[in-house]
Amino acid sequence: VSQVTAEWEMKMEYLVREDGSLRFDAPDQIAAFCRDHGLRLFGHTLVWYAQAPPAFARLAGNRPAMTERLRAYVQAVVGRYRGLACGWDVVNEAVAEDGSGWRDSLWSRELGRLEHMTLAFHAAREADPTAPLFLNDYNLESLPRKRVVFLKLAETLLRAGAPLTGLGTQTHVAADLPAGAVRDAIRDLASLGLPVHVSEMDVSLTRARGLFKDRQALLEGQKRVYGEAAEAFSGLPSDRRFAFTHWGLRDGDSWLRRENAADAPLLFDDRGRPKPAAAAWEGGLRS
Ligand code: G3I
Repeated sequence: VSQVTAEWEMKMEYLVREDGSLRFDAPDQIAAFCRDHGLRLFGHTLVWYAQAPPAFARLAGNRPAMTERLRAYVQAVVGRYRGLACGWDVVNEAVAEDGSGWRDSLWSRELGRLEHMTLAFHAAREADPTAPLFLNDYNLESLPRKRVVFLKLAETLLRAGAPLTGLGTQTHVAADLPAGAVRDAIRDLASLGLPVHVSEMDVSLTRARGLFKDRQALLEGQKRVYGEAAEAFSGLPSDRRFAFTHWGLRDGDSWLRRENAADAPLLFDDRGRPKPAAAAWEGGLRS
């Protein structure tokens, strides 16, 4: 392991208190752990439709105040980890669920559909002149039309002068994902010319809706998907490979376990023992 992403502790839902002040106890501990263990720390995430704490929501209708508070937030968070954070998911999940366009959010409504994103990217760049700045999203594998909208948004941001310097594909997929889907997504993202981050990979067994007969078939499917993702990522030119991040190490740690106790989406089992998918993934990296 060379890089970690905080699953929760660097998001607004953790950092922003009721009164709008910020708490950094947990992320500072994670940052110290990374420093002590020579790990890179990836910052996730600054602007996300899913989180708009009261300290921001109560500024609705007051664009100047919300603009200033969001700019100050991004600069405070990114500035704090400057020199340690190896990159940031500046905008997370900005494409609509069905891939039909850009997602509506408090941020887009109050600060402008594109402006809220360019604001965040510029504020992050002002706070850290060198950290790679990412646009991150999910279902870019299973929903090719969402991937098209995602790439067009990236191009729009670049044309608008946003310092976008990386693309993240979360890769929360299921074991019945058709062969080639992950490979096509990774290759398409790389075609824009920016580094690609496979940012949150897990391969759910219980979310697989295909006609798998039994768990063994699901595990085979999971192994295939992990191998394909590793092979596609390692097949990218080196300047397109940012990082490959699994959204957890042991099955028992996975957010998906909260949805279904029978799921086993990661490379290591509850006791931390590598599963067949781990060998497939490692083999794919070396291919
Ligand atoms: O641990 C605290 C507990 O102390 C506290 O009392 C409780 C109060 O709500 O919160 C607990 O924290 C929970 C945290 O997960 C623990 O890791 C938060 O409630 C809960 O909201 C948080 O869920 C995370 C979720 O994002 C929302 O932030 C999941 O762990 C995390 O896996 C999930 O990750 C997202 C990515 O950021 C974006 N892509 C999708 C992915 C999966 O949804």
